[in-house]
Amino acid sequence: MDKFLVTGGTPLVGTIRVSGAKNAALPCMAAAILTEDEVILENIPHVRDIDTERRLLASMGGEVDIFDDGTNRTTRICCATLSDPVAKYEIVKTMRASSLVLGPLVARTGLARVAMPGGCAIGGRPIDLHLKGLEKMGAVITQEHGYIEARAERLLGAHIVFDKITVTGTEDLLMAAVLAEGETLMENCAREPEVVDLAGLLNAMGAKIEGAGTPTIRVRGVARLKGARHRICPDRIEAGTFLIAGAITGGDLTVAGCNPRHLGAVMSKLEETGARVDILRPDAVRVQAEGALKAADVSTEEYPGFPTDMQAQYMALATQADGVSMVKENIFENRFMHVQELVRMGANIKVDGRVATVRGRTPLSAASVMCSDLRASASLVLAALVADGQSVLDRVYHMDRGYERIEEKLRGVGAKIARVSHVPAGVAEEAYA
Ligand code: EPZ
Repeated sequence: MDKFLVTGGTPLVGTIRVSGAKNAALPCMAAAILTEDEVILENIPHVRDIDTERRLLASMGGEVDIFDDGTNRTTRICCATLSDPVAKYEIVKTMRASSLVLGPLVARTGLARVAMPGGCAIGGRPIDLHLKGLEKMGAVITQEHGYIEARAERLLGAHIVFDKITVTGTEDLLMAAVLAEGETLMENCAREPEVVDLAGLLNAMGAKIEGAGTPTIRVRGVARLKGARHRICPDRIEAGTFLIAGAITGGDLTVAGCNPRHLGAVMSKLEETGARVDILRPDAVRVQAEGALKAADVSTEEYPGFPTDMQAQYMALATQADGVSMVKENIFENRFMHVQELVRMGANIKVDGRVATVRGRTPLSAASVMCSDLRASASLVLAALVADGQSVLDRVYHMDRGYERIEEKLRGVGAKIARVSHVPAGVAEEAYA
């Protein structure tokens, strides 16, 4: 099991490049189920969840190639024959976003069998709202032996109002609606940029979608969709993680290949802490943190509010800010797994329900810590970048799910970080060579 060795104390300086958004690539890959034609997606990130999605589509009969042409990673998907429209538990248990194949499978074949995703480290994460929407569209849903089965001769357009804002719920039902008979009106939708990216692909495939990115989406069903070529949008969470890396290390870091319009809440929160944030170009943001950082409260909200996927990373920054920062997690019920590990590095954090009180600034000292989920792992890397000494981060496979070669990218701007398969006794600095 790979580990990261990180020695803190080096300000990050230079330019770091963002990859394509994992959370846009996953629904866009699932959208290929909706057509017999070939779908080509560019700017695919080289992360584990993408490979899991590739295996999932292949297990159902899809042909999926992923190839690098130097700067760009592209996937070519053809689901002309879906011999086995079942998302098997062995794959679904490793990635709950597998539930994104539910809507497109029912829409395309009239039948879908998807293993119940189960919970995960950050919460129960049910998909009841996905199922409720499909039932409103005429699907018959049954559950047995840990699998959900959805059947429908042809889905019918419906009026769907989400009880709660759900990102993959919006995406799943959007993909169901594009081939439904008649019009579907969806209200209280997620407004995330990844939803907009998916709608862009679907419309390029011949769908008729209006309102993606707003709470109300209107879809006029069509008989069939054709193939398309689409470029995945930049990963705003990777970009936000790097902006915090620049601020927490007191560096001068330019994050390139990002979309500043997707980073509003993160950039304004960084400015509130006293970091300097400048939009250099339509695809580049620069962060500088010369002086001491100030405490600032944060409350996670659906987009365009402060992202829950940035909460753990922000908490690491808050440990280095003078004053008390209140961090409220409104989206998931158990997304403070990083707190105890940060406390072991010297942070002063108290959790009461969904609110963490962070008292800074506290010097952090290097330690051996355990990664628990994707974004908690990122928080520990950020803390290790400013901790005194050399930290060992275990179970970095959690990071590999959503960050492409993060240690190489960080090393490129001065971080002392190396990936090792085991920690040799008395490992020396040259591990970062
Ligand atoms: C997406 O998960 C992202 N994953 C998550 O990113 C992200 O944290 C989350 O949205 C919130 O922004 C992908 O896009 C693949 P939700 P999703 O449905 O869609 C409840 C990462 O780090 N809910 O918006 O599963 C749910 O329990 C991952 O990249 C229901 O109750 O999240 C949660 O409390 C982690 N019933 C809230 O809604 C449902 O049917 C928001 O969940 C669906 C959701």
